[in-house]
Amino acid sequence: KKVGIIGVPFEKGQKKYGVSVAPAALRYAGLIQQLSEIDGLDVKDYGDIETPGIEEVKMENMAHLAPVSACNKKLSKRVSEVLRDDRVVVTIGGDHSIGVGTVDGHYQVNNDMILIWVDAHADINTNKTSDSGSVHGMPVALLVKEFCSYWPYLPTMDWQGTLVSLRSVDHYERLAIEKYKIPTFAMEDVEEHGIKKSIEHVLKKLDPENKRPIHVSFDIDSLDALEAPSTGTPVRGGLSLREAINLMEIIYATGRLRAVDLVEINPAIGDESDRKKTIEAGLCVLKAALGFSRRGTAPRGVIDL
Ligand code: ARG
Ligand code: MN
Ligand code: MN
Repeated sequence: KKVGIIGVPFEKGQKKYGVSVAPAALRYAGLIQQLSEIDGLDVKDYGDIETPGIEEVKMENMAHLAPVSACNKKLSKRVSEVLRDDRVVVTIGGDHSIGVGTVDGHYQVNNDMILIWVDAHADINTNKTSDSGSVHGMPVALLVKEFCSYWPYLPTMDWQGTLVSLRSVDHYERLAIEKYKIPTFAMEDVEEHGIKKSIEHVLKKLDPENKRPIHVSFDIDSLDALEAPSTGTPVRGGLSLREAINLMEIIYATGRLRAVDLVEINPAIGDESDRKKTIEAGLCVLKAALGFSRRGTAPRGVIDL
């Protein structure tokens, strides 16, 4: 099994300082080493995507569209490259605006991919509906073919995905979800079925034949704010870390997970203990996605006790 890591120290999709520090913070916390310790995993670090000095263009109620667009364009190419190297792509954000580039890059290589967007928020605002004007609240809308005129380079993408763990959906987002019939698994659904059944439903619904490549875009704020306090738009009442780990284990077990994004960790928010908790949670989620077993694994080869 092979994996490629991409860091995206990008934070212009939202307003707070600090989410761009996450790739460095995760690397410092042992990201590469911890993933390398997973049984049989070959880890290659592709470094960071940097896009300095992009000139701003004005777009109504859509902050920093030019840098967001430049970063995503570069990121998309890198994601495709890693996939073509036959590696599972792990992209460390950055804010969630980078989901446009990761999904686009994946779609270029596997146009039958399915997308599972794990998030407290729906991220399906447009500049017409957004209260914040921040693009990290818009990536899903940018990926829906109905909205694609907003995004010059993105190919028309037939939406095949679902939003999981929702609990903070704006009024117009709800309208868009209903209008375009985007499947969602809000926290109520997780309550009803439990996380395991919920994810099994999701997988069955999107891919009844169990054959399509899977992309998981994981916003750390899908976790309860107690589990992951260091994030820009925390919401209480979210997934426990155990539920998120289980979600990833179930998706890993399909053998078809090809791309994971981990976004919105902001090490500049909260105190030392918040930061540590949040980064650890992120690492646990990634490890589960890449085959770490909580049961433990015996050493490889024939070794006697
Ligand atoms: N719905 C709000 C907005 O449009 C919050 C979005 C939060 N997004 C995120 N990726 N954390 O601004
Ligand atoms: Mn998000
Ligand atoms: Mn979110």
